Amino acid sequence: MDQESVLRAAKLREEINYHNYRYHTLDSPLISDAQFDALVDELRALEAEHPELITPDSPTQRVGGAPAEGFAKVEHPAPILSLDKASSRAELLAWHTRISKLLPEDAPPLSYIVEPKFDGLTVVLHYRQGQLVLGATRGDGLVGEDITANLRTVKTLPLRIPADPDGPQPPPYLVVRGEVLILLEDFDALNARLIEAGAPTGVTPFANPRNAAAGSLRQLDPAITAQRPLHLYAYSIVTADGSVPETQRETLDYLRALGFAQPDEIAFFEDGAGDRRLDAVADYCEQMIARRNTLPYEADGLVVKIDDLATQAALGVVGGRPRGAVAYKFPAQEATTTVVDVEFSVGRTGVITPTALLEPVPIAGVTVSRASLHNFDFIAERDIRIGDRVLVKRAGDVIPYVAGPVVDARDGSQHPIEPPSTCPACGDPVAQPEGEIAYYCINAACPAQLVQKLTYFTHVLDIEGLGERTAVQLVEQHLVEDPADLYFLTKDSLLTLEGFADKKADNLLAAIAQAKDRPFDRVLAALGIRGVGTTVAQVLAEAFPTLDALAEASAEAIAAVEGIGPITAQNILTWFAHVHNRAMVEKLRQAGVKLAAERQAVAADEQPLVDLTFVITGTLSRPRDAVKAWIESLGGKVAGSVSQKTSYLVIGADPGGSKYNRAQALDTPLLTEEQLYALAGIHP
Ligand code: IVH
Repeated sequence: MDQESVLRAAKLREEINYHNYRYHTLDSPLISDAQFDALVDELRALEAEHPELITPDSPTQRVGGAPAEGFAKVEHPAPILSLDKASSRAELLAWHTRISKLLPEDAPPLSYIVEPKFDGLTVVLHYRQGQLVLGATRGDGLVGEDITANLRTVKTLPLRIPADPDGPQPPPYLVVRGEVLILLEDFDALNARLIEAGAPTGVTPFANPRNAAAGSLRQLDPAITAQRPLHLYAYSIVTADGSVPETQRETLDYLRALGFAQPDEIAFFEDGAGDRRLDAVADYCEQMIARRNTLPYEADGLVVKIDDLATQAALGVVGGRPRGAVAYKFPAQEATTTVVDVEFSVGRTGVITPTALLEPVPIAGVTVSRASLHNFDFIAERDIRIGDRVLVKRAGDVIPYVAGPVVDARDGSQHPIEPPSTCPACGDPVAQPEGEIAYYCINAACPAQLVQKLTYFTHVLDIEGLGERTAVQLVEQHLVEDPADLYFLTKDSLLTLEGFADKKADNLLAAIAQAKDRPFDRVLAALGIRGVGTTVAQVLAEAFPTLDALAEASAEAIAAVEGIGPITAQNILTWFAHVHNRAMVEKLRQAGVKLAAERQAVAADEQPLVDLTFVITGTLSRPRDAVKAWIESLGGKVAGSVSQKTSYLVIGADPGGSKYNRAQALDTPLLTEEQLYALAGIHP
């Protein structure tokens, strides 16, 4: 092989790894996505031509390798210990008193560092000559499992250190410990994606980020792991064959310099007189408890550590727990209560979803009387029964869910939860397709499905004033048989509905008429084809600029589009094969809805919002969708929730609290609608 290719591949690997780090870990990219993609494409092409050029640290390997049969066992260089717990200020002070007695009288005052106790999965990462060579799970603390192929797909995990060529040179062998988790924002997006995808195999969304991260990391197929938004925070050096920092604070700085992400929430308490210093630590812990629901990840508490690592080591281990650190647990956001009954509801695609009706119980200030049971596999796996005393958890803003039964509390009166044999909405028989977890109502005319289809349609097309209540009325009164019928509603028919007077009917008709302007890809997403949510619809609309072109395409042609799998392709074909759906398309055409893409190029110099990401909260003077499209046409991005990537939070009337609170916590600048237009230099 020619020397030039070898050098070029090495250079590309280095550059791509560096830009990946700038983008994912530092959140501060230096090049555009297109430039980044071009580098990756070039490396892929080189590697395709010369497969011997592929190295384990090649960024092309992040997509996941071949599925494994199982995971090999890995012995950890040092055991992963548990931590002693403190649940109050007094217990924290007691910990301090205990360890103070063990230190020499003339020992200098101690410094502390407080870190989040991440609720993810512990991983141990081995680097040789700066290359990731092995990554393992915690296992039993002594022996874990080799999940290197999966860990390679984690974008904030540096495959080579230092990630920045100007960073420090690590020792030849370095083992780092950290936690892999899914950031809450990414978790919401992941679940939304799964919901959009319409649960082809009955996979209902994950109950919580930890389950999602755990399931993703222990995947035998790394290609699946690669699609999960896993994130790594590193917090300690396990072993090294060279010199490494002597304090925890310097360790974190050093890890950061090597290219490992660190959370914002790390507090350092300079050495000072014993109890007073500890009081400041406890004050901080209490502040963090108050803020826990604004953290961008799930944490089950904080870890208070003595900063000096030699002192930590000297204090030793008792009962498998190091004395030099303590976990300050957040109060539980869980409670036990009784499952009174189970309710079944029917989703847009006909999936039957079980929800537990509970004896109401307060959890962290909110009365919970319903909780997700996830799906029937989950119920069977945990053996949850009606009448059971169950543990219910609520994490952040995630919907409460039943974690499992308290088996010891059973008295024989409990009975199993059976999937319904008939649809709770239409009474037609329920079916469980071969190989699927979910039960479906297969009646295409099921009113519950139609209600869901309508609300989904109006949600995607941003038709205001048509919520679930109205959808139920329209279906019950037989005014619509599919979403396209909305465009043919008349004022007279609307006035027959309870609660509809002149103005309300006019407003709704106007909103429906306005929605005819929505771009083709939105319309495509609104159809509710399984697997075709807003993102997939955008990709499809690029490849098939008219609905007719898509309707006529073969499954192969659709699956050939990057980002579209064979299952979605088949779902599209199946959808168009239904006469009802065909009829609906014709009605949409008649109504004048956009069934073809309109391309309009905006010159680069007309993109004043390029590189800026906005989040919108509250009501603006024009529909949110219109503002979003306008921002995007000027080069900006619009995200659904506030993160470190957010440039501005745009505040409209009656803003929601959670976005605002997140923005405050992250110091995100705020804009009024007028200020947004001023920033762009143009009014829409
Ligand atoms: S350090 C001497 N720091 O909690 C200190 N552990 O340790 C030893 N965990 O499964 C532990 N976040 O992986 C430490 N910031 C953090 C942590 C953390 C989460 C996990 C850890 C282990 C458990 C107890």
